Parts: sequence; structure tokens; C-alpha cells
Amino acid sequence: MSKNLQAVRGMNDILPDEAERWEALEARLRRWLAAYAYRPLRMPIVEPTPLFARAIGEVTDIVEKEMYSFIDTLSGEPLTLRPEGTAGCVRAVLQHNLLYDGPRRLWYLGPMFRHERPQKGRYRQFHQLGVEALGYTGPDIDAEQMVMIARLWRELGLAGTMRLELNCLGQPEERARHRSALIAHFEQHRDSLDEEAKRRLPSNPLRILDTKNPAMQPIVETAPRLYDYLGEASRAHFSGVCALLDAAKIPWRFNPRLVRGLDYYNLTVFEWVTEQLGAQGTVCAGGRYDGLIAQLGGKPQPACGFAIGLERLLALTEGRDGERQSIAQVYVLHQGEVAQRLAFVAAESLRDAGLAVQLHCGGGSFKAQMRRADQSGARVAVIVGEDEAAAGEASVKPLRAEGSQCRVGIAALVPAVQVWLD
Ligand code: HAM
Repeated sequence: MSKNLQAVRGMNDILPDEAERWEALEARLRRWLAAYAYRPLRMPIVEPTPLFARAIGEVTDIVEKEMYSFIDTLSGEPLTLRPEGTAGCVRAVLQHNLLYDGPRRLWYLGPMFRHERPQKGRYRQFHQLGVEALGYTGPDIDAEQMVMIARLWRELGLAGTMRLELNCLGQPEERARHRSALIAHFEQHRDSLDEEAKRRLPSNPLRILDTKNPAMQPIVETAPRLYDYLGEASRAHFSGVCALLDAAKIPWRFNPRLVRGLDYYNLTVFEWVTEQLGAQGTVCAGGRYDGLIAQLGGKPQPACGFAIGLERLLALTEGRDGERQSIAQVYVLHQGEVAQRLAFVAAESLRDAGLAVQLHCGGGSFKAQMRRADQSGARVAVIVGEDEAAAGEASVKPLRAEGSQCRVGIAALVPAVQVWLD
């Protein structure tokens, strides 16, 4: 195929075998979300560019270099393919005044876009399930979200493979004081900083703590810790979250280096990480973002949420799926013009009875049609040959069980097929 007719790099087609796994997972996720009283919200994929700059932060990797932004040629408006869902969710909640009668638990699912270097587990179009609780203070909702996620891992048979990492980012003033101390510390060791760190020092010194450069580990190790700059209230919130997690017997690990790549977080931040996906091991991530609603123009209200990367979750559950749902149960084949018309009627009567039916289309020898029936995964073949058609009958043949073919009148077709489906 000509090169320019391929999908965009890092944006994948999801073919039917895979798409069926997605649908089965999505159905499961919907049941799990309903059990915690979260309700769906569907937002547009494109939002005004300033929304993301304001919500995620001007000096984040996402906003600086990963957004698919463009000018709408008709309106001249700067637009962006959403790189995440929290900003759009808060925008929609404010636009429609959804918090007017109290807090809301909401979820959304769909594609997100980031211009990252594609590799296994990291794509330019990927899918997130986002879960947001808006209008709630107190550590209980933070903890409930983590308890809820732990339940999902159990339901999917992943409990042993996921590790919960937790940190408390405090409040903006506490972070500002820590930031000054951090800059002073790195300034003192300026000679040991690499070029990347020097560039980041004035704008985003926290990201230096994430460095992979082994030569910089000693100055990173001795850097001032945010936790030491947290006040009473922040510490109390954090210990409230930890106590609820302990009461629910959810193991967690304090990770003081966990900072997250989006600027809207305060207090609780968390990530669920697995060793089974190589470098892209973060399957779920989130935290509290009490300042975002006010920052986007709303009356100040607290909030907390997380997102699960669906490609990563599906990679972990590969090989654990149940039966595929969208395979036809019955394959109807036919030979000759009269038979074709009868086969159409027969297929519709089977569908009237609630069965999933694949009617052979496109002609072909009887043998070729039988091969298709076998390949389709259907459990029963309904055959309308010229003989059957002349008698107003069809033959029923089990494809996945021992048993002989039988011939019945069209009116008796449904029960004759059902025998092989129960
Ligand atoms: P995030 O950490 O940027 O957070 O993304 C959440 C999850 O999306 C990641 O842990 C990962 O599983 C998946 N993900 C991110 N980028 C990619 C990619 N390029 N390819 C495949 N998967 C990816 C957020 O987006 C926040 N909005 C989460 C949140 C919701 N916080 C509060 N509410």
C-alpha cells in the first residue's frame, strides 16, 4: 500500500479481535463505576488551546512539546486535540453549572493525544478512562478512589502485580517554599548539574529530581524534601488518607519523589505501577486538584480524580479474557436463487428469537461456504440447499459438538438450532 495511506505514526487501528477485548473491558468498567455511583460524561475531543495551557501548566512537557495544536482555518481559533480529560471535564462542569446542587462523581472514556516518541505502551493516540469526584473535601474520597481501583485490580486478577505509590504535594505556598530551597540547593551544586538540569532549574526544578543521570544522583539524594515543608493541615490530610487505606488493607508505598507531570495537583498524588510492562509501567495515576476549578473561572471547589491507560491495562490482561461476545452463534448458508430467499427469511426468524446470525453473502460453492461457516466460530450451521428450499425446510448441523445433521421445516428452525446452543 502507498506509504501516505498508512495510519499516523503512534495512532493505531484496533482490529476486531482486539476491539472485542476492548468492549468486554469497557462493559466491566461500566459496572464497576456504577457500583461506586460514578456517572458518565462525554466531552469533545477538541478544546480551545488556552484551556490546557491554563489547567495543565505552561511549563509542563505536555503543554510545551506534546500537544497537537492547530488554528481552525475557518474561525481562526487556536484548538488542541485533548492530551488528557481532566481539563475538559472541569470546563464542561463549569459551563453547565453541574455543581450547583452539590458534589458530582463523573467518568469519561476515550482517546487522548500526545506527541510523544511512540514505543510499546506509549502512543500518540491512546485511551483513558478518567474518573473525577468534584466538590469533595476531606481524605475520604481520595482513599475511596484508591480502594475502588484496588477492587478493579482484584476483579481483573491483577491484584498481586500492581503497586500503589503515594505522595503528598501539600499546598502551593508549601511547594513554593520547598521550590526556593530546592533552587538554592541545586545552585550550590551548579557544577554537577547536566545541561538539561541547568535548563530546567529556573522554571521547573522539581523535574530535576526525576533525572536518570547517575552522576547527579548524589545531589538529588541530598536535596530538600517536600514533606519537611508541609504544614499541619496537609500532613493531617495525608495521614487521613493513609489511615483509611490501612483500614481497607490496601498496601501502599510512600514515594516522596512522585511529582506528576501536570501542574494542577495538590495534597494527595498517587500512581499504580506494574513491573510487567517495562518502562511504561504506570497503569493508573491521579490525585487531588483543589485549585483547578477556581483556576478555570469557577467558584473554588475541591476535587480529586485519576485516569487509567486502557492500552496498558489491556496489555496486562491479555490471555485472561472470557468468551468473545460478538461472534455469530449461527451461520446460514444456501445454494440457488430460491434457497437464498428462504435463507434470508430463516436468518431473520433466528434473529427474532434473539440469536446472533451470520448470513452467507457473496455466493461460492457449497464447500467454500461450509469452510467459512467453520472459520466463523459459529456453533451451528443452517443449510438451505435446493432440495431443502423446494420442501420449505432447512438442515441444522452442529459445528462444535458431536451430533448428526437434521432437517426441519422453517417454522421449527429456532428450537432445532437452540438444541446446540444451550
Ligand atoms: P497522566 O499521568 O498524564 O494523568 O495519564 C494517566 C495514564 O494515562 C497514565 O498512567 C498512562 O497509563 C496513560 N497514558 C498517558 N500517556 C500515555 C501514552 N502516551 N500512551 C499510552 N498511555 C498513556 C492524566 O492524564 C490525568 N488527567 C489523570 C487525572 C484525572 N488526574 C486527576 N484526574
